[in-house]
Amino acid sequence: MYTPEMLASIAKVEATRKARMGVEPRRMTAEEKEALLSQYHPDYKNDGFATLSVGPNKGDKVPTELRALLEGKSRVAGMPINLAKIDYDVDVLVIGGGGAGASAAIEANEAGANVMIVTKLRLGDANTMMAEGGIQAADKANDSPAQHYLDAMGGGHFANVPELLRKLVMDGPGAVKWLNELGVEFDKAEDGTMITTHGGGTSRKRMHAAADYSGAEIMRTLRDEVFNRGIEVVDFTAAIELIKDDEGKIAGAVLMNMETKEILIARAKTVILATGGAGRLHYQGFPTSNHYGATADGLILGYRAGAKLLYADTLQYHPTGAAFPSQIFGALVTEKVRSMGAMLVNVEGEAFMNPLETRDVSAASIIRECGDRGKGVETPQGKAVWLDTPMIDMIHGKGTLEKRLPAMLRMFLKYGIDMRETPILVYPTLHYQNGGLKITPDGMTCVPNLFVAGEAVGGIHGRNRLMGNSLLDIIVFGRSAGQHAAKAAQGVKLGELTLKHVEDFEAEVKAAGLESDTLSPQLLPDYARKV
Ligand code: FUM
Repeated sequence: MYTPEMLASIAKVEATRKARMGVEPRRMTAEEKEALLSQYHPDYKNDGFATLSVGPNKGDKVPTELRALLEGKSRVAGMPINLAKIDYDVDVLVIGGGGAGASAAIEANEAGANVMIVTKLRLGDANTMMAEGGIQAADKANDSPAQHYLDAMGGGHFANVPELLRKLVMDGPGAVKWLNELGVEFDKAEDGTMITTHGGGTSRKRMHAAADYSGAEIMRTLRDEVFNRGIEVVDFTAAIELIKDDEGKIAGAVLMNMETKEILIARAKTVILATGGAGRLHYQGFPTSNHYGATADGLILGYRAGAKLLYADTLQYHPTGAAFPSQIFGALVTEKVRSMGAMLVNVEGEAFMNPLETRDVSAASIIRECGDRGKGVETPQGKAVWLDTPMIDMIHGKGTLEKRLPAMLRMFLKYGIDMRETPILVYPTLHYQNGGLKITPDGMTCVPNLFVAGEAVGGIHGRNRLMGNSLLDIIVFGRSAGQHAAKAAQGVKLGELTLKHVEDFEAEVKAAGLESDTLSPQLLPDYARKV
């Protein structure tokens, strides 16, 4: 499978391996990190961003592709929408079928609310399902939520919203306990204690995993719970605009059947946006580890309804996306590979960085190695570096990689690459939106009765998220949004339904001279098969 040039480089990797084993590359200083990020991290590339001209974040910088959607054309523009014909009438409407949406629906149901999930694909078609390495929670004797807080605050460049981060870490142990009791098959030692590992930027081993398919295992369990409770799930149906009532409270959503394009109206006393990330917008041309529907829909819907964005200009490029072969370009190679000892090595077989620097630093370091330093390995998609995976069995014993990273092993074996024997090629891939809609710790936006949970939230992780804090946040903030939305729904009396806020937003766009034909939300990647 590997080219002769790659094989020649592998020989150099093998030649240096013995000397590298057991020698931890030094960590960068804060000054070195800042200099590296400002020169090589995509968040610092001005030409990848544009300034918003309308809406609550007017004047703020966001990715160019996101701006086109935020200021794009509403899918309901010019459409005769009959808001008096109600197709669904519920207390709590959850938009999005990933881990945050499912957790929210379970808790809203538990609180006695009539809750419905609507999702443009199927329940579980979400970034949660794609998550591999694990979920952080400070539940071991040598750890504490305070320690977890410090790690995440440092990793986030001290920009994390303190009260959101506090909730994340304080509720972490309870979230893992809840999942365990629901039936998630976490990796455990013979005595039943959870096996935990490090992630980049962590000072304690607090990553709980189910091999390297942690997200799939969590989503399987949540999906079972949603179905067991009889929660209504309307799939292949997208929310294309939020509805308010005549007092400005959120009152439901306009839905569109993805196959028939039929328009449906869902009236709801409270709405939870749990629409996930934006990887399929391929900011700055990057490949992505995200699922097919990750097109930032919730950010568009919320913004048009008046909710504020926070840190929408900061994205996470996972350092180790698969770079070869082309069939899996951009697919996630979990950070767990590095936490188990595999080193990042350049074309000459040199370890050029500590493999457990935080993600933004690691990604920038790989970009520099492949760019200005000219030490990348040539691939059909550009340059890449080696992740020296045979080190894992050498450190932990034969059979470890197969046991702890079975999905990863299988992914590469399909293409004739045995990562137990040979290193694999990696390059950063668009993985996560650090920014999103601004919420209170209860999950509420500044728009009455509009809640947000999961990757559509901004601020929990500051300007760079640590591994495993996303699976944690979807559970912590998903559950909390479900509880608070159910409670808030109890006191709500809805007035007349209206889409006036959408008309007002359109008028603002027009007045700014920005009318465009870009339909938003986008719903599917622009390379989706058109029917
Ligand atoms: O590397 C990973 O397994 C990804 C984890 C995460 O984004 O939290």
